[in-house]
This record gives sequence, C-alpha cells and structure tokens, in this order.
Amino acid sequence: MKLPIIIDTDPGQDDAVAILLALASPELEVLGITAVAGNVPLSLTEVNARKVCELAGRPEIKVYAGAIRPLLHNLVTAEHVHGKTGLDGPVLAEPTMPLQKQHAVDFIIETLMSRPAGTVTLATLGPLTNIALALIKEPLIASRIKRIVAMGGGFFEGGNITPAAEFNIYVDPHAARLVLDAGIPFTLIPLDCTHQALTTKARVEKFRSMENNSGPATALMMDFFERFDVEKYGTDGGPLHDPCVIAWLLRPELFTSRDVNVVVECESPLTMGMTVVDWWRVTARKPNATVCRGINSDGFFDLLTERLAKLA
Ligand code: RIB
Ligand code: CA
Repeated sequence: MKLPIIIDTDPGQDDAVAILLALASPELEVLGITAVAGNVPLSLTEVNARKVCELAGRPEIKVYAGAIRPLLHNLVTAEHVHGKTGLDGPVLAEPTMPLQKQHAVDFIIETLMSRPAGTVTLATLGPLTNIALALIKEPLIASRIKRIVAMGGGFFEGGNITPAAEFNIYVDPHAARLVLDAGIPFTLIPLDCTHQALTTKARVEKFRSMENNSGPATALMMDFFERFDVEKYGTDGGPLHDPCVIAWLLRPELFTSRDVNVVVECESPLTMGMTVVDWWRVTARKPNATVCRGINSDGFFDLLTERLAKLA
C-alpha cells in the first residue's frame, strides 16, 4: 500500500533532491507538489519544482503555486545560498509541463477533504505558509491529516539564518506556530539532525558517476549548494536538509527522536522564529511533536544513492 503524500516546497537544491528521492520511491504516492515562497520567490519555486519533475522524467506530476509571501512578515529569501534561480548548479531546461491552475492551498484542502481521513501525509520542506493558510481556510482538515513531517527548526544546534532561528521557521514563524498548535501528528526534522547529513566529496561523487541525468545533475546542485555551508562550517560538504523528510517517511529507523513540546518565538526581535524545544521536558507544556535529533547518515546516503540511481 503506497503512502499518499503532498510535498510542500521552496526549491532550493536540497528541496530538489528531496523531490527526486520521493519520485524514485515506490512506497510513496506523490499526490501533488505545492510551491511556496521561501528560498527564492514563488515565481521561481514553482518553476523549479516543475524543472525537477521533468529532470526525474515525471512530467505528469501535478505542481501548484501557493503563497507568495508569509502570513505577516515580509518575505526573506536565501539567494546567497541557492543562487539567483534558486536551483543554480546544473543548467535545467525551462519546464514544458503545466503549472496547475488551482491554488496550492485549495488543492491541499480539496485533497484532504476528498480522501479518507487520516490517509494523507504532508511533507513540508519550506516555510509553513501554505499549510497555515489551508488550516485557516478549512479548519476541518486538521483532523484529517495523517501526519506532517517538516524540515525546520533547531535546538541544541541553534539557528542558521540567525543565531537562534532556522530559515523555514524564521521566514514564517506565525505559520509554524499555528501549525504546531493545531493538534496534528507532527514530526520535526531540525538542524540538529540535518547537520549530520553532510554532502561529503565521496558521497557526491557517487551521484556524479551515475549513468542517468538525475545523478550528475544532483552532483552539480550539491557543488553549488554546499559551497556556502562548507565555507561557514568548515566541514567536508554541507547539510542536506530536505531529503531527510522523505527519508524519515521511508526509513524512520534511520532517525532517533523524542516526543516533546515545541513552541515558536513570534515576538522577540532577537530570537524571532526560534523553535523552543523542551527536549528535557522541564516544563508542563504537552508534547506536540516528534523531534528528531539523530540520523544514521551513512544509511541515509545509501538510501538516497540507491534511489537516485533508479531515476531517468
Ligand atoms: O534551513 C534549511 C531549510 O531552509 C531547507 O529547507 C532549505 O531548502 C531552506 O528552505
Ligand atoms: Ca526547502
């Protein structure tokens, strides 16, 4: 039985690899891909999502455009990491597959309301604006979502866009708070976990040597994407954040986690967007998320390499 998922994303090279991994995994049924403003503006994230589907040889995948900006804050983008296209590295053809006319938020609501309750998982790779808007427009979906698995936040690892906040949460902290407060089964994959999943030279060379289009293109994406973090952290490779969400869906045993409380800071200018994770359960706040802290990074890259090799 395939697991039906919607991927909400702001491609982004690491988002792109997550989409490739999902499309290469027969355990998953990708019902649709919803683009959100984040790493780069929506006008680029929706195009990039379609470029990646065509790279994977999957032009039939339905791609929708969603929120053009966060709920309250002005959009903050990350061209300094992802390049001006958001997918710098390989030269990917302009997409010929269509962008769906329906708004992403309406697609999310329609899908959740029409399919049996508790069967659809939301895999979120960017700011949570689309998910928050869907919950505001149709609150009934909250009880119908099987689980949200989100890349975002950080606790002992701190932040990456500020010392306190991780990018996806920082861009739209109000959306993240609203989604975390909605009582939906929630898995958070924070920097504490993704910073262990480094695109080392040896791992990237395995992508580059693949006899298909997706492998070498992924290597070129990593060459570009990792340079910022290699410079910043002085590591062999950069953290491959978003594919960890898909890997959790496929092999949760690759991860270690605890069910704890997570609250998003939405007031302090100093710590705006910080995920305050009660890892040691020192407060009376009820657990609202399964927070991942560890990952078997060799197992993760073995899975990713095995699956990417199957693509076009
Ligand atoms: O902080 C990492 C996250 O922000 C990843 O999802 C990356 O794609 C960017 O969106
Ligand atoms: Ca992302």
